[in-house]
Amino acid sequence: MKITYYGQAGFGLRLNGKDLLFDPFITPNDLAKDKVKLADVPADYLLITHGHQDHVADVEAVVKNTGAKIISNYEITTYYGAREMDGHPLNHGGKAKFDFGTVKYVNAVHSSVLPDGTYAGNPGGFVIWNDEVCFYHAGDTALTMDMQLIPMTCPKLDFAILPIGDNFTMGYEDAVIASDFIKCDKIIGCHYDTFGYIEIDHAAAKKAFAEKGKELILLEVGEEREL
Ligand code: NI
Ligand code: MN
Repeated sequence: MKITYYGQAGFGLRLNGKDLLFDPFITPNDLAKDKVKLADVPADYLLITHGHQDHVADVEAVVKNTGAKIISNYEITTYYGAREMDGHPLNHGGKAKFDFGTVKYVNAVHSSVLPDGTYAGNPGGFVIWNDEVCFYHAGDTALTMDMQLIPMTCPKLDFAILPIGDNFTMGYEDAVIASDFIKCDKIIGCHYDTFGYIEIDHAAAKKAFAEKGKELILLEVGEEREL
């Protein structure tokens, strides 16, 4: 399957002919400048892990461009619902079926508030699967023991998107442990290099995974990759 990196925690994936877009932070991101054109980003569904600016900056523009349906927690879908954007609310531990597959909203250890100060509920991640693939987008999170629940309650992961930038989330050292907890050896890094606080040494991060026999994939902003 094809995955496109839009920067920070933003990814596009195509499942069963539907375009899923996660956490769009494109127009304010210097790393996305000249590499991603927001008007060209496809979305049938817009999945939002939590309310922080670096995850929701382009939500309204994407919905306007594409008519995408929002999938997030109850508080965030309610917030956008009041602004006439269609959404499906989830809460932690709950899953629902869509025409592209099943989505489960899982725990993240982080904080969450929308840019205008509105309470955004608790932050989360998503595990998504259908007959062909299963993957996890962790959102912003610390390493947490709850990650061990994922292989107990979901199909086997083919790959996982984990934050590795440290400071606001776990760093790559803890992400290696997270990959053990979720029983997954193919990790796509996110939430690094976007600002000074989260700049990382790419070679050191890849080495930390390689030493455990795992792969860390670091995509360029705007890059498409066949997984
Ligand atoms: Ni955050
Ligand atoms: Mn963030």
